[in-house]
Amino acid sequence: MKERIVELRKRFEDQLGNVADPEKLEELRLSFLSKKGQLQDLMKELSKIPNEQKKEAGQLINTFKQEVQQRFDEKKEELAAAAEKLLIESTESYDESMPAAFPCGSYHPITLVQRELEDIFESMGFDIEDYSEIVSDYDCFEAVNIPKFHPARDMQDTYYLTSKNQLLKSHTSAAQNAILRKYGPALKESGRPIRAVFPGRCFRNEAVDASHDNTFFQMEGVMVDKDISISNLIYFMKTMLSEVFGREVTVRLRPGFFPFVEPGFELDIKCLNCGGKGCPSCGNSGWLELCPCGMIHPNVLKMGGINTDEDPFEYTGFAFGLGLTRLAMMKYGVRDIRVFNDGDLGALSQFISA
Ligand code: DAH
Repeated sequence: MKERIVELRKRFEDQLGNVADPEKLEELRLSFLSKKGQLQDLMKELSKIPNEQKKEAGQLINTFKQEVQQRFDEKKEELAAAAEKLLIESTESYDESMPAAFPCGSYHPITLVQRELEDIFESMGFDIEDYSEIVSDYDCFEAVNIPKFHPARDMQDTYYLTSKNQLLKSHTSAAQNAILRKYGPALKESGRPIRAVFPGRCFRNEAVDASHDNTFFQMEGVMVDKDISISNLIYFMKTMLSEVFGREVTVRLRPGFFPFVEPGFELDIKCLNCGGKGCPSCGNSGWLELCPCGMIHPNVLKMGGINTDEDPFEYTGFAFGLGLTRLAMMKYGVRDIRVFNDGDLGALSQFISA
């Protein structure tokens, strides 16, 4: 048996030395190690040798089998390394300074407007917050003073999940309660005013047309401290909008109803195209409706853990809900809201960011 193995090893090594690609290697493997391979033939020969030599011969065959397997594995690695080396050497060298052969990507226009606003608010001391798109009924409605069966819910029909009383948030006001709870302790302990903005994607069960979509973006903001008044609200809104439009804007407040603010307002800016005289872009009114806002309702401050029944006006604050999608439409002159969500790169790539 020893001689048979020596002879087979020699044959195997000779053939292995000639193998230059993975296919040939596999053929060789099959010819030695498969069920019909040469090592199996060797096993069959075991039956012909005397019983007392069988054990030793069996061990010899097994050791040889392991050796053959190991030599295959080594050769396989060797071939893979050689192939990789060849690939690296044959690939043309890479020139970093070459201009891109395909068009560069760009930020989505909503992202551009959102980031710009975040920078402006950050410079005025606001924290930027993020909030989930799936929220509870409590956060979206009850915590902002819209109890179950309140008619104001009709204006914000949204998409309900089948589990755990959850829904897709219909407005960024859904984060107000969480923000008040997060920053309330610092306000009370160290007098740090709550100043936060929270942009986010909102959903409503809308009939889609050029100015309505079932998915849109808002940016909500709140400020809470002692003695916050409507003057503070006007100041912040005016400063922020002048920054956004890059020039001084004139604002006006009209009464508006929203259950989470009292009093509530619609904030308009004087039309930047006609200076208030009236033109097609402002519907000839001279004003553009831009941002609903108001003084945070005492119930909302109470549910957010800010005030108690003993002193429901200890802290006061304002809130606003900017339509980011609307702002992006105005800023970039987009006439159809559907452009933002239908993923048409041809349309969206016009908004190349600097
Ligand atoms: N959440 C309101 C909506 O989507 C917008 C809004 C109005 C937000 C007044 C506010 C506010 O914070 O004070 O229709």
